[in-house]
Amino acid sequence: MDDQLHGVRDELQRDPYPHYDRARRAPGLTRVPELDAWLVARDADVREVLRRPEDFSSANSLLPDVLPSPAALAVLGGGFGGRPVVVTSDGARHQQLRAPIVRGLSPSRVAAVLPYAAERAAALVDAFAPDPKNGRVELMSAYARRLPGDVVGRIVGLDPSDVPAVVHGGHRAEELLFRPLGEDEQIAAAEDVVAMQHILDRYVRERAARPREDLATEIVASVTEGTEGTEGELTLEQRHEAVAHLQNLLIAGHLTTTALIGTTVLHLLRHPRQWELLCAEPDRIPAAVEEAARYDTALQGFRRITTRPLTLAGTELPAGATVFVAFGGANRDPVRHPQPDEFDITRTPERHLAFGFGAHGCPGAQLAREQLRLTLGELTRRLPGLGLAADHRVTMRPTMIHRSPYRLHLTW
Ligand code: HEM
Repeated sequence: MDDQLHGVRDELQRDPYPHYDRARRAPGLTRVPELDAWLVARDADVREVLRRPEDFSSANSLLPDVLPSPAALAVLGGGFGGRPVVVTSDGARHQQLRAPIVRGLSPSRVAAVLPYAAERAAALVDAFAPDPKNGRVELMSAYARRLPGDVVGRIVGLDPSDVPAVVHGGHRAEELLFRPLGEDEQIAAAEDVVAMQHILDRYVRERAARPREDLATEIVASVTEGTEGTEGELTLEQRHEAVAHLQNLLIAGHLTTTALIGTTVLHLLRHPRQWELLCAEPDRIPAAVEEAARYDTALQGFRRITTRPLTLAGTELPAGATVFVAFGGANRDPVRHPQPDEFDITRTPERHLAFGFGAHGCPGAQLAREQLRLTLGELTRRLPGLGLAADHRVTMRPTMIHRSPYRLHLTW
C-alpha cells in the first residue's frame, strides 16, 4: 500500500466518527476505499449482520492491513501458530473453538481472579501515587498497558514473570500486521512475536503433561479432544493450534482492555463535571464504564465476507463482498442512542455493541468490565483531583481494533 493511502487511512482511523455519520445518512451501504469494504454503520444493520453468521463469514475478520516482508515472514516461520482461531472461524468449527474459551472465562473463573485483579490495580496505583497531591503520571505505560496483561495472564495460567514478554509480543504482532514498519523494524517485531510464541509453546507442552485449573489447560485439552496419542504428548500440529489460540486470546484480552482503560479515563477527564460526579457517587461507576465503552468503542469494527449474493440495507452485494461491521458506528447511531455524540454517564442506557453480539459476541466482556470498574474505583477514591496535564496534547493511535490514546499524561 502506498504512503498516500496509509495517510488517508490513518486519518480515518484516528477519527472514524464523521465517516460513520455520513454512511448512516447515505442510502444503503457506503463503499469506503480506505477500508477496502462496504461500511455498515447503522445499529440495525450491524445487528443484522451479526445475527446472520451463515451469510456473513468471519473468515476475514483479522485481515492484516500490512503484509510482512519476506524477511519478516521467514522469521515468523521459526515460530508457532498461524492456524485459524475462534474469531476467524464459522459454524461448527467456531463453536468447537469457542467452547473452551467460554469455559475458561466462566463467571466463577472471573470471580476467582478478581481479588488478584484488585490487588494488582492497587499496587500499580501505589507505584505512581504515593503522594495524593502534586503528582504526575503517564497512565498508559504506568497502568493501562499493565493491569490487563497481568489479569488475563493469571486467568490463562501464566507465571507473572512471563507476562511482560507475552504482552510485548502481542503489541509487536499488532504493529507488524497493522502498521507500516521499515524492513529492520519488521524483522525485530517478528523476532519478538516468535519469542512470545515459544513461551506459549512451553505452557502448551507443560499443560499437556500436567493439566491445571486454567484457561491454557482448557485450550490444550480442546486441541487434543477426540484424537488418539501418547498420554501428555502433543503433535507438532496440535502445538501450533494451541499456540495460535492462546496468542489470539491473549491479544483479544489485553490490548482491547488497555485501550478501553485509556479512552475511559480520557473522556471522564475531558468532562470534569462528570468526573466529579463519579468521585462523589461511585455507585455510578458501572454506568460510566458502559457509557465509555459505547462512546469511544475500543474495537471499532471487524470485517465479514458474504457467503452468497444478498441485499443488506437495500444494497445488493455479490458473494465474496467484504463488509466492515462498525460496532463504533452502531454505538453512535441516534436511532438507538439519543444525542449519541454526547458523553453522558447519566444517560438512560440502551444496549450498545462495544462487545459485539451473537455467535462471536465477546466471551471476555465480564472480565474487561470488572477491570474497568476496579480502575475507576481506585482512581476516583485515591486521586479525585486527577486531570489531563495542561502541557500535553492527546493523540489517538491510528487503529480500528484497539482505539486508545498513545499516551495519557495526568496530573493531580
Ligand atoms: C474492553 C475490552 C474488550 C472489548 C472492547 C472486546 C470486544 C470484542 C468484540 C466486539 C468481539 C466480537 C468480534 C466479532 O464479532 O467478530 C470480541 C470477541 C472476542 N473477545 Fe473480546 N473484547 C474485550 C475484552 C476481551 C477479553 C478480556 C477477552 C479474554 C480474556 C476477550 C476475548 C475475546 C475473544 C476470544 C473473542 C472472539 C469470540 C468469537 O469469535 O467467538 N475479549 N471482543
